[in-house]
Amino acid sequence: APTDLEALKKEAAIRAVALVQSGNRVGLGTGSTAKYAIEEIGRKLAAGELTGIVGVATSEASEKLAREVGIPTETLDPRLLDIAIDGADEIAPNLDLIKGLGGALVREKMTEVQAGRLIIIADHTKIVSRLGEKAPLPIEILQFGFLSTVERLREILPAGRLRHTGAQPYVTDNGNYIFDAQLPAEMDVRALERRLKGTLGVVDTGLFLGMAERAFVAAPDGVQELTA
Ligand code: A5P
Repeated sequence: APTDLEALKKEAAIRAVALVQSGNRVGLGTGSTAKYAIEEIGRKLAAGELTGIVGVATSEASEKLAREVGIPTETLDPRLLDIAIDGADEIAPNLDLIKGLGGALVREKMTEVQAGRLIIIADHTKIVSRLGEKAPLPIEILQFGFLSTVERLREILPAGRLRHTGAQPYVTDNGNYIFDAQLPAEMDVRALERRLKGTLGVVDTGLFLGMAERAFVAAPDGVQELTA
């Protein structure tokens, strides 16, 4: 049942927030699991269990939630973050990730690449044996000339489509579109990432390779801690 999954996501989030220390600059993820981490940080601040936290949000939605729960926020600047906590759409055995089904992949990647520690939180349904097993790979592209970019992307990943909200293309916080691509079974994701990043019109991809330090994955029989 959906409520069970919610309880698991919250459990994973609480485990991750236990790693946050007073005075930390914290990257705040996006999505239904990251939401619980933001709420837990807010709760700990209110309870005096944490002090001096500064949050850097990875989306407008997380920025708003952080404000609501009383986390002081700053926009990303070149300073490092002590830690970032975020969900993921797929987690491979080596902690390579697919992210961006929630649409925040570019701000997430820019923020989390600057974090000393990236901690992933998820329920057990996000574990896969290879990336692309269940989820599409979100690729953020400029609106300008998007049909040309989509054509170039289809030469690399033929199965994919522009994300829509109803009849309209989905628009990211950055004002861009997203192409959701199916990954073939045998795929060198590092080579793929280089090729996609070299494609004109592509802003970034939802491949988060070699970034996560650990993951807290909640299953009905407990929270598993995975390390890269
Ligand atoms: C947002 O852009 C994504 O990267 C999220 O982190 C991801 O979609 C996980 O979201 P849920 O926790 O809601 O599944």
